[in-house]
Amino acid sequence: MRQKIVAGNWKMNKTLEEAKILTAEVMGMVADEVKGNTSVVLCVPSPYLLPLKNQLGNSSVKIGAQNCSEHDWGAYTGEISALMLKSMEIPYVILGHSERRQYFGEDGKLLAKKIDKALAASLTPIFCCGEPLEIREAGTHEKLVKQQVEEALFHLSTDALKKIVIAYEPVWAIGTGKTATSQQAQDMHAVIRMHLASKYGEQVASEISILYGGSVKADNAQELFSCPDVDGGLVGGASLKSREFVDIVKGMK
Ligand code: PGA
Repeated sequence: MRQKIVAGNWKMNKTLEEAKILTAEVMGMVADEVKGNTSVVLCVPSPYLLPLKNQLGNSSVKIGAQNCSEHDWGAYTGEISALMLKSMEIPYVILGHSERRQYFGEDGKLLAKKIDKALAASLTPIFCCGEPLEIREAGTHEKLVKQQVEEALFHLSTDALKKIVIAYEPVWAIGTGKTATSQQAQDMHAVIRMHLASKYGEQVASEISILYGGSVKADNAQELFSCPDVDGGLVGGASLKSREFVDIVKGMK
């Protein structure tokens, strides 16, 4: 059975003090919600990874990074490698978020390298894909998302692919308050799963968690998460408020 995951993506927000308060609140409220097959992950700014990981201790809430380098070590000022994350025992890393693609020029070729580094360091990549508005309007969104998945993931062996979590995040829904309808989310998730099946077989495709991201909130989470191919959410803005985030986690049931 594939894993259900609700991951918060804090992006570049919060002071350390605020981050500690938010973590404590989420930890306190979420304890009873994280059962069996559901994982809750907080993807926090890099400088806070270690203090917040220590704060979480052996809580059921896990910690994740928002990016890693395609290199292991060396003269890459400002970068953070997968091996550094491994050395801090960080279990998850978001890769290929649309903001990284848009503002930092990340493309499929680069993301394939980052995915390899993350897997080699035993991290679980949360690989993001999703189309901008003009592509959705042109009706070529399925083609683009299939291509994004192919470019970054299709070089992987079956065993490696099984370690990936995918997040479908339509760019027009990120931070805009315009959530995809549950039908739009389900349709694209099914397309992604079928595309994985075409290369890796149906059994393997059925084991991959595919999260939806883009204006997930407490009042739409339950409907989105009830779609058969939606295995949870990647939550931006709403993960910055503890009550709202925990209500989203509750929508997982
Ligand atoms: P949002 O962001 O929930 O604020 O739309 C989602 C994301 O960027 O991962």
